[in-house]
Amino acid sequence: MDLQTFRDLLTPAGRDLLAEACTAYEEHTAIALGTRLRRRHPPDLVAAAMTQAALRRRAHAKWGEDAGRMFFTRDGLEQATTGAVAAYRAGRIVDADCRLDPPETIAPETTGPGPESSPERGARIVDLCCGIGGDLIALARAGVQVTGVDTDPLTVAIARANLAELDLAGHASVEQADAREVDRAAYSAAVADPARRSLRGRIFDPAGYSPPWSFVEELLRGDACVKTAPIIPHRLIPAGVEAEWISVGGEVKEAALWAGRLRTGDGDRRRATVLPAGGVPAGEAGEWAGQTGGWADRVTMTDADDPGAAPVSPPLAYLYEPDGAVIRAGLVTGVAPLVDGSLLHPKIAYLTSDQLVSTPFASAYRIVAVLPYDLKVLTRELRNREVGNLTVKKRGVDVDPQTLRKRLGVRGPRAATVVVTRSEQGTLALLVDPTPA
Ligand SMILES: C[S@@+](CC[C@H](N)C(=O)[O-])C[C@H]1O[C@@H](n2cnc3c(N)ncnc32)[C@H](O)[C@@H]1O
Repeated sequence: MDLQTFRDLLTPAGRDLLAEACTAYEEHTAIALGTRLRRRHPPDLVAAAMTQAALRRRAHAKWGEDAGRMFFTRDGLEQATTGAVAAYRAGRIVDADCRLDPPETIAPETTGPGPESSPERGARIVDLCCGIGGDLIALARAGVQVTGVDTDPLTVAIARANLAELDLAGHASVEQADAREVDRAAYSAAVADPARRSLRGRIFDPAGYSPPWSFVEELLRGDACVKTAPIIPHRLIPAGVEAEWISVGGEVKEAALWAGRLRTGDGDRRRATVLPAGGVPAGEAGEWAGQTGGWADRVTMTDADDPGAAPVSPPLAYLYEPDGAVIRAGLVTGVAPLVDGSLLHPKIAYLTSDQLVSTPFASAYRIVAVLPYDLKVLTRELRNREVGNLTVKKRGVDVDPQTLRKRLGVRGPRAATVVVTRSEQGTLALLVDPTPA
């Protein structure tokens, strides 16, 4: 879709077409729908409307009901922050508002009414790679005065349209500019989410981000929050920065780097935040930290909560698998005191305990059988238990789950989970049952 076609889509005729496409769109009948719509509308506009209809469906997983009113590009949707994470991070920024200086100069004025329930706040934030507006929307909705910046003209037009569609234009504006040329003195703090995708696909090396890592390092010398991939090597995180790995419903979404007055403390800090699948409960976004017993205190842990070491023991009654955010943050030993547990092996991210404890930081399994990792022993055990549907988990061992399932030749009406792991007793195969969360 080019910029002119997007503008045409925003006209009354374009909106009627889009509404029709969104109502009728089903993947398996899309070709017939396109043919029908092209009888009455220009082909480019029909293609754009059909693409929006498909992207809105896909975006529902990230943005819920909002997706039905938003506009996207394929890349913009893929790169946009999940609504739950964006709302959580916006909550942290609201919480930090009181620590930030007001801007030195006045940033461009926004127009129109703001969200009714959101009070005006003092700080002004610049979102330096705003994309189609994932973070921008969450910040504006949290009551933050925010200006989005992006180099791509179509993306800028879409971000503006999304703010307008969601009645947030009063809190946010969007400029087309290169992040590196923005006068940051006009803002209290910056957020940035550099592009990690090029025409050739995903970029894993931060040096290839746009804007590049050198710019990220510059931002992190001030008051800033930068979103990066969860696989960011710890050695790249500048000294004095707080790194927070965030998962939603068990899937690690990102590592957010918090610098200056957006941090929660003074020095380096590693934090794991484990959001439930539905994200931050309504009305609690601002209650994210610093309030003992607050909602967010129950879903976030830091290296200050981690003794840094844990006892090691053979398998006990329960196995605990830490959330991916905890593992990426290097806080596995921080789970041990929570579950009164021990590691199975000093270098492996499984814990074991005689206690069954419910914690957001780890999933618990009841250990049903402890076996040596021996194909004959395992085959016999699974046959006796009539297991035909086997889930294989593994850690610290060179096992391919699919190959293992084939070699075991499992057949039978029952389901089971086997965990193949290194332990101080050698490689073990643990038969486990998930416990209710
Ligand atoms: C990962 S996306 C941002 C997604 C956004 N946070 C969201 O939630 O929707 C990165 C964006 O950065 C923009 N970008 C890349 N280089 C830039 C630069 N030098 N200055 C400003 N924007 C840039 C890209 O056009 C892209 O839209």
